[in-house]
Amino acid sequence: MALLEPHAFPHRHLLTIEGLSPDDITMLLDLSESYVAQNRQLDKKQSVLRGRTQFNLFFESSTRTRTSFEIAGKRLGADTINMSAEGSAIKKGETLIDTAMTLNAMQPDVLVVRHPESGAVALLAQKVDCAVINAGDGSHAHPTQALLDALTIRRRKGRLAGLVVAICGDILHSRVARSNIELLTIMGARVRVVAPPTLLPSAIERLGVEVHHDMRRGLEDCDIVMMLRLQTERMQGAFVPSIREYYHFYGLDYVKLAVAKDDALIMHPGPMNRGVEIDTDVADDIHRSVIREQVEMGVAVRMACLHVLAGTRRNEPTGRL
Ligand code: CP
Repeated sequence: MALLEPHAFPHRHLLTIEGLSPDDITMLLDLSESYVAQNRQLDKKQSVLRGRTQFNLFFESSTRTRTSFEIAGKRLGADTINMSAEGSAIKKGETLIDTAMTLNAMQPDVLVVRHPESGAVALLAQKVDCAVINAGDGSHAHPTQALLDALTIRRRKGRLAGLVVAICGDILHSRVARSNIELLTIMGARVRVVAPPTLLPSAIERLGVEVHHDMRRGLEDCDIVMMLRLQTERMQGAFVPSIREYYHFYGLDYVKLAVAKDDALIMHPGPMNRGVEIDTDVADDIHRSVIREQVEMGVAVRMACLHVLAGTRRNEPTGRL
């Protein structure tokens, strides 16, 4: 694969979708597309990141994001090092910033960071010389998830502009919802959010979305149904009367899906809670559900992000040791 021009992606980090232009997003999706093809070949290896060092710092649990970033780095030829809070000096009381500055001294080219606190990844990015990719911070942002969702939609529907996308469930605690709302509106899609009032942030309309509390109205004639997990780990107190009642009103089943377009796609970022936000048969419907495809796209999108951030420029030390 040919090297990109250094200024093809005019951003030092990828912390949020906000601030990206339609051209930035289109360029990342086009590059990801080439990696989808590459990843389906027997030989998946590239040398775009040969000699580069990638640290994956996961201070919160992850299956999809962590493994796909590791695979992505390895397929591009980078040296990838994984670190979690468990087993690191954070357990001995070292701060996040001291940890970042310690790793910075080892001359990495890119840090991929997941953290339970909103804003922690942006703070860390101010302290290091290399590129930083946000792999999910609190309920704030998950930009690579939005990019992989967009790639999945674009491959199936041929476009993003003009599509009606219903994002349903726990919007309040969801970084996936925030990043998807930003990306989809930048690219000209119409976004609806569908949730009980207790699971919506105040003034969500300001993000340019339609708000619905009823699944029938929210899903009517939509092209995409994106379901979200109830993030009980971020909840203090009860946000829904019971799981049974939540499923009755907001769980996606074939009855609720019937009002969407006949060819509406079903998406879920994972991890799924079957029987809570989605019926198990709907989740596994090979004609409608693209949940497994989202996972595949995740590797390609993360390869593209690593490529543009770590493959096109050298570190420029700023003396932050
Ligand atoms: N979608 C997502 O971020 O999944 P993981 O928590 O498994 O990374």
